[in-house]
Amino acid sequence: MGLLRPVPIFLAALFAAAAFLLRDTWTGQGTESGSICRCFPGDTCWPSITEWNEFNRSLGGKLIATNPIASICHDNHPFAPYDAEACARLQSVWELPETHYVSPSSPMPPFYANMSCDPFTPREAQCIIGTYVQYTVNASSAQDYKSTLAFAQRNNIRLVIRNTGHDYLSKSTGAGAIALWTHHIRDVSVVDYESHYYQGKAMKLGAGVMNFEAQAAAHAQGLLVVGGFCPTVGVAGGYTQGGGHGTLASRYGLGADQVLEWEVVTADGQQLTATPTENPDLYWALSGGGGGTYGVVLSMTVKVYPETKVAAAKLSFTSQGVSLDTFNNVVKSVLLGLPEANDAGVGSLWIYAEGFFMMQPIMAPGLTADELSALIRPSLDELDRNGITYDYAIGDYPTYFDAFDAMNPPYNITQFHIGGRFIPRSLIESKKAIEPLMDTFKFMFSKGGIMSGMSLNVSKTPLVAPNSVHPGWRTSAFVAVYGAPFYKLDYEANIESLDLVTNVLGPSLEDITPRGGAYLNEGNIYQPNFQETFYGSSYDRLKSIKERYDPNDFFYGPTAVGSEAWRIERDGRLCQVKRQP
Ligand SMILES: Cc1cc2nc3c(=O)[nH]c(=O)nc-3n(C[C@H](O)[C@H](O)[C@H](O)COP(=O)(O)OP(=O)(O)OC[C@H]3O[C@@H](n4cnc5c(N)ncnc54)[C@H](O)[C@@H]3O)c2cc1C
Ligand SMILES: *[C@@H]1O[C@H](CO)[C@@H](O)[C@H](O)[C@H]1NC(C)=O
Ligand SMILES: *[C@@H]1O[C@H](CO)[C@@H](O)[C@H](O)[C@H]1NC(C)=O
Ligand SMILES: *[C@@H]1O[C@H](CO)[C@@H](O)[C@H](O)[C@H]1NC(C)=O
Ligand SMILES: *[C@@H]1O[C@H](CO)[C@@H](O)[C@H](O)[C@H]1NC(C)=O
Ligand SMILES: *[C@@H]1O[C@H](CO)[C@@H](O)[C@H](O)[C@H]1NC(C)=O
Repeated sequence: MGLLRPVPIFLAALFAAAAFLLRDTWTGQGTESGSICRCFPGDTCWPSITEWNEFNRSLGGKLIATNPIASICHDNHPFAPYDAEACARLQSVWELPETHYVSPSSPMPPFYANMSCDPFTPREAQCIIGTYVQYTVNASSAQDYKSTLAFAQRNNIRLVIRNTGHDYLSKSTGAGAIALWTHHIRDVSVVDYESHYYQGKAMKLGAGVMNFEAQAAAHAQGLLVVGGFCPTVGVAGGYTQGGGHGTLASRYGLGADQVLEWEVVTADGQQLTATPTENPDLYWALSGGGGGTYGVVLSMTVKVYPETKVAAAKLSFTSQGVSLDTFNNVVKSVLLGLPEANDAGVGSLWIYAEGFFMMQPIMAPGLTADELSALIRPSLDELDRNGITYDYAIGDYPTYFDAFDAMNPPYNITQFHIGGRFIPRSLIESKKAIEPLMDTFKFMFSKGGIMSGMSLNVSKTPLVAPNSVHPGWRTSAFVAVYGAPFYKLDYEANIESLDLVTNVLGPSLEDITPRGGAYLNEGNIYQPNFQETFYGSSYDRLKSIKERYDPNDFFYGPTAVGSEAWRIERDGRLCQVKRQP
């Protein structure tokens, strides 16, 4: 998703902020007591240069020492030197995903790089490894996975699994860590799949394949594959393992619903196949229970479908020339139309801020533009009736591939602190039911928040087997993502924004969706009660499956299943939470 528009800054008395952010991080004493913390650079347990070289040799030279990509914007560091022109070039493409996914170490969400080596800080500001990983293994085989897992465990070093670096919850970076980088494992093949739960065309995707590559490979054979809105998200990585929504969800279901088979290497170096019948508990957990938790995926095999005609549209308008009340009432009628559209197979992505609404893309696989237009007509009539001008376009496309290319906007990296919430269909099913939601949006805007929604119905298609996605998906009409501003250079202001997300915007949506949940890939890293919010009733079973396949609790990610056993110290070190005697 992408939140595109800056919003007014909310300044409030938020001095509880620092307290909540640093809540778990100031308690650390005795962090040198090796057994409860991961080994950190500078510790005596940290491998010597000779040992790193030895490890590199055992990998055939695939070990990369981190060289922060923005070092060219700074002096006084051992990395690539200052270069004004190159720095300006980097600044101009900083928000593009491709700037980061080609890098072995740069995460996309900027806040979690903690200004360690930031292209926008002054030339004389620090450029250190800081919260970047220390080393990256440029993996190309199961053997590389096994060697990396063994080395990291033998030396008690934190492991980060890095694919594209899109993760909003900072799972693809980590201070003092080795990254296992899957980006170059990019094999794709179409296969005829035969099992008692599915017979038909399927696609086997290497861990590093990105959405646009999977789409192209499917299209070349007259097929389509379920992926996200964003072309560069990795399909088999955090996306499908975390659930995975997109333009095709209302017709074919979530990313996780497509999985037939996982190839995975577990912490002990075993290579396993997980299907609904072989290691079925691992299959269940990997299909929606969160990335980077149970093992490292080598490949995934998913259902694919025959290419189909697609109708696609976009609509945007502002409050210019009308009152905000009038504008919001029109937005309300657009939202009231979502359930019918979702049921007809339409998937859409929209952004809503004070006085601004944009829905793009609106995609209807299998429908004609006439059919889609009939679903959108009531919204256009409402706009006309209220004298609001709008931008609107609709088209027929012979294939999903063409529609995706033509109607999907570019996706920059979100420059917001975000949180998320599943919005149940029952909340937008009638004019009366939607009022609390509209009031909440108004409240959020008044605090400087901004909203986006991914509309879908993912409870229509039969599953090949049950999976672990949060049950809240199945009753949702859209997945809400809300945001507060990110400040490139102002740490304190970011703390206030995070406080706003966690303690003001989040609770306002939670109040009207009791016992609800949120998408674990598009949520707040400081989400209170994250276990229930991100995993719902699946949490306990996920945790016992993790304990079975990762008995030494080696895999860790912020808000991942089992992560409550760990905390990040102030210097970034990963430590076990002390068990009270
Ligand atoms: C611009 C943008 C657009 C987005 N659009 C969408 C969208 O349309 N639909 C949607 O559902 N989500 C979307 N997302 C969210 C996205 O699904 C998550 O960020 C997801 O984590 C990305 O997965 P990745 O593998 O590409 O990223 P990474 O950041 O590289 O990895 C994320 C997590 O997955 C784990 N992981 C990665 N590879 C493996 C592996 N091989 N084995 C085990 N664990 C692994 C990592 O450890 C990490 O925990 C978007 C995010 C951004 C920033
Ligand atoms: C690993 O070896 C390769 C090939 O010899 C070399 O290019 C690379 O710099 C080495 N990596 C590290 C971290 O020393
Ligand atoms: C997307 O990012 C690019 C490069 O950083 C920037 O030039 C462009 O303005 C951004 N677009 C939007 C809509 O934010
Ligand atoms: C990583 O390995 C791939 C081959 O698998 C190679 O093409 C690529 O250049 C390597 N990248 C880096 C940064 O070493
Ligand atoms: C999804 O569609 C089915 C069939 O049209 C309908 O019965 C169900 O209520 C819908 N669910 C949601 C959450 O929209
Ligand atoms: C983030 O940066 C601040 C200021 O430089 C520093 O004090 C802090 O230790 C850093 N955090 C991590 C996790 O590295």
